[in-house]
Amino acid sequence: MARSGILFVLCAFAIAAFTQKIKSKSAPGTLADSTAYAVPENIQSIIDKSCYDCHNGESKNLKAKTKFRFDKMHELDTKKMVSKLDEIIEVVDELEMPPKKFVEKNPDAQPSDEEYAMLKAWAEEQAKLLMN
Ligand code: HEC
Repeated sequence: MARSGILFVLCAFAIAAFTQKIKSKSAPGTLADSTAYAVPENIQSIIDKSCYDCHNGESKNLKAKTKFRFDKMHELDTKKMVSKLDEIIEVVDELEMPPKKFVEKNPDAQPSDEEYAMLKAWAEEQAKLLMN
């Protein structure tokens, strides 16, 4: 009897610790809350205009969707996510994306300097939050 009593107390402790953890994770405004992958609307519209057509699971551009998919980002573990964000920063810095040929055919897809800067700032901030 004494042993099951101890077990009961241990279980109760474990459950209490577990629920506490869940609570602290979902509490609004905490660090844990802000580390989730999130794309603000203004960034999403740049991605939709300039990137998404090639970098999603339905894309006909095999090379593009193999290398990188925006629709998969939220499924990646933190380490992979950060490395993908670093790749975004790199291609934006080098003005490699969207590819020139694509922009020649679709001039509207060209991000402005400001949009490039916003995309980069978002990727940097998101990577920093994830690494916390
Ligand atoms: C016309 C289709 C197309 C569009 C639009 C496009 N990409 Fe790409 N992207 C590619 C292709 C193709 C590759 C693979 C390039 C290679 O491996 O040489 C690639 C590669 C990448 C990579 C991986 C780079 C690496 O180091 O392997 C990232 C990150 C990326 N693109 C981000 C973006 C972003 C951000 C945008 C929008 C600003 C964008 N792409 C728009 C076709 C596209």
